[in-house]
Amino acid sequence: MSSDDENSVLKVEDLGVAYGAYEAVAGLEFNIRRGEFVAILGPSGCGKSSMLNVISGLRAPSRGRVFVENKELFTPKSKAPRLGYVFQSHRLLPWRTVRQNLEIALAPSAVPRSEWNRKIDEILEILHIGQFKDSWPLRLSGGQRQRVSIARALVVDPSYILMDEPLSTLDEVTARSLRQELTGICQRTGATVVFVTHSVREAVYLADRIIILTRGPARIYEDYTVPLKRPRDYDDPRISEIESEIVARVQAPWGLGNAEDRDVA
Ligand SMILES: Nc1ncnc2c1ncn2[C@@H]1O[C@H](COP(=O)(O)OP(=O)(O)O)[C@@H](O)[C@H]1O
Ligand SMILES: [Mg+2]
Repeated sequence: MSSDDENSVLKVEDLGVAYGAYEAVAGLEFNIRRGEFVAILGPSGCGKSSMLNVISGLRAPSRGRVFVENKELFTPKSKAPRLGYVFQSHRLLPWRTVRQNLEIALAPSAVPRSEWNRKIDEILEILHIGQFKDSWPLRLSGGQRQRVSIARALVVDPSYILMDEPLSTLDEVTARSLRQELTGICQRTGATVVFVTHSVREAVYLADRIIILTRGPARIYEDYTVPLKRPRDYDDPRISEIESEIVARVQAPWGLGNAEDRDVA
């Protein structure tokens, strides 16, 4: 049994993911605690989505163990974790209104039906989209739709929320405004977040901690605590400095150094 840490929300031990003989993730270890905002940073194709499929309970790992609130996933007795998921694309049902999309997420959740209206109103308000409650998703802008998908993840009182590059398809101005609000929204709702990104700057700006992966098969290169207080300013020169330091450090583990470094992994 893993040693119990009562604030542990998501813990993985020696986590590996393979597709046949091809190894995508090779032995990750981390422990994410209640209320933390953790970025998982790695180059495209390194195995981030593969890891997310496992820690969301969708796919059993090829090796290692996953614990949610100290209970092991993927055993015969395991229950599906309560979680919210925000994907790169919004994945809203176009033939359902915003409110109905949130209700579909609430239906299998533990939130009693008598609470739904209040919770939906509250979460849409926090995301500044209360006026779109009865709108169709296709009538909204890209940024508004992604706000709805974040609301849908938060409304179910999840143990944790997984975000897989949720801002990467938005234009930069829209992405900035949502990025600026995101950590405040998570703090207000007490959410624990695992935020996957390939953007170093985004990780530094948003996260309490950055788990930096190597290129595939993904291993942990560094578990880095961001030494910046909140609120943060995206244009803060300290963010640029830390970004540059990390970019310099990941050249070799991301396979980007000069030719001599290239075959280390
Ligand atoms: N279902 C699958 N079958 C075989 N290979 C896969 C599958 N899904 C992903 N891969 C491969 O595993 C590696 C990691 O992919 P992925 O986890 O999507 O990376 P990332 O999200 O970091 O871009 C890639 O080389 C990808 O081609
Ligand atoms: Mg991916």
